[in-house]
Amino acid sequence: MNSLALLGTIFLAASSLSIPLDGETRASCTLKGSSISDLSSVKKSCSSITIQDLTVPAGQTLDLTGLKSGTTVTFKGTIKFGTKQWAGPLISVSGSQITVNGASGNKIDGGGASYWDGKGGNGGKTKPKFFKAGKLNHSVIKNINIYNSPVHVFSINNCQNLTVQSVLIDDSKGDSGGGHNTDGFDISDSSQITIKNSKIYNQDDCLAINSGTDIHFENNYCKGGHGISIGSVGGRSNNVVKKVTVKNCEVVNSDNGIRVKTIYGTTGTVSDITFQDITLTNINKCGISVRGDYTNSGSKGTATDGVPIKNLTVKNVQGTIKSGGTRVMILVKGASGWKWSGVSLSGGKAASGCSGIPSGSGAKC
Ligand SMILES: *[C@@H]1O[C@H](CO)[C@@H](O)[C@H](O)[C@H]1NC(C)=O
Ligand SMILES: *[C@@H]1O[C@H](CO)[C@@H](O)[C@H](O)[C@H]1NC(C)=O
Ligand SMILES: *[C@@H]1O[C@H](CO)[C@@H](O)[C@H](O)[C@H]1NC(C)=O
Repeated sequence: MNSLALLGTIFLAASSLSIPLDGETRASCTLKGSSISDLSSVKKSCSSITIQDLTVPAGQTLDLTGLKSGTTVTFKGTIKFGTKQWAGPLISVSGSQITVNGASGNKIDGGGASYWDGKGGNGGKTKPKFFKAGKLNHSVIKNINIYNSPVHVFSINNCQNLTVQSVLIDDSKGDSGGGHNTDGFDISDSSQITIKNSKIYNQDDCLAINSGTDIHFENNYCKGGHGISIGSVGGRSNNVVKKVTVKNCEVVNSDNGIRVKTIYGTTGTVSDITFQDITLTNINKCGISVRGDYTNSGSKGTATDGVPIKNLTVKNVQGTIKSGGTRVMILVKGASGWKWSGVSLSGGKAASGCSGIPSGSGAKC
């Protein structure tokens, strides 16, 4: 028992800030200290929830699921989480017409250093995922600052019409500290998703889309990880990725720049994809990689056409590849409708073994 526990109090301020909703009056509430046991009553009675200087007990989710429509959640001060080996998530949000906001200077710290062992989600300590946005519809997440994620950061699953903007993910301490699989945004089974004006410092995909339609990733900065990825697609319950734009983004000091990868021997479709106005700096392995030969244990070397990549536009992608890296690698089957222009990468080397490039598309290795 520590003295902080005594501060685990809800402050109800049901005064002038209250707003009438569906005939009932719902209050502004603040949750602080080191207990979240009051959360379910707060969710029922408060339309504005401030989470301030809270330490979430080890092994518990800050459970903001089932929020009433119209609720605003504001993170303020420093939010921490007790350390425990478990799968998480540390935070989970669902509902409709929800605003998740961060007050100036907010810091949501996952305590990654206690978990990082260089193995990420593939072994070693069991690590909690950070932020689950599941069935979060017609909502906005903005201005929050996430630090030191144990493993994957945002899982956006089954969401419709969600905008994430001006968010910071800073796992840069994991670069030398054993951070691994710290994906910025993983998207599946979702539509009308926009992620913009955000910065991601991590050690795995900045963005990975496994399935979904109408997804926009704009004005974002990705540093230290594996770049921006569609896929891997195939072999799951939903294997369709359609209508994705990645625009005005910068990828720096990363293994890859931009990628589309589909899984060998599976079925699905990837269509209507645009990468435009992208700057790549100091890319280690591959600047632009489009492959249909992915397996969990690496690249097969021959592509299958069960997940054809259709209507892939790549326009104005410029930058630098490190020596030893590859500028452009394309190994696909059944691709069509591509339009490539303005690809200008320097450094690195040309790929060998490219195949399946649609003729007349302007794409080349
Ligand atoms: C959000 O949308 C998903 C997918 O359309 C749906 O399954 C879910 O019930 C919706 N959730 C809410 C809270 O409206
Ligand atoms: C998307 O959600 C926003 C609230 O974030 C809402 O204002 C807008 O009407 C929604 N758009 C659609 C097409 O549902
Ligand atoms: C590809 O683009 C063509 C021409 O714009 C369009 O007619 C077709 O429907 C698109 N196909 C897909 C799968 O997006």
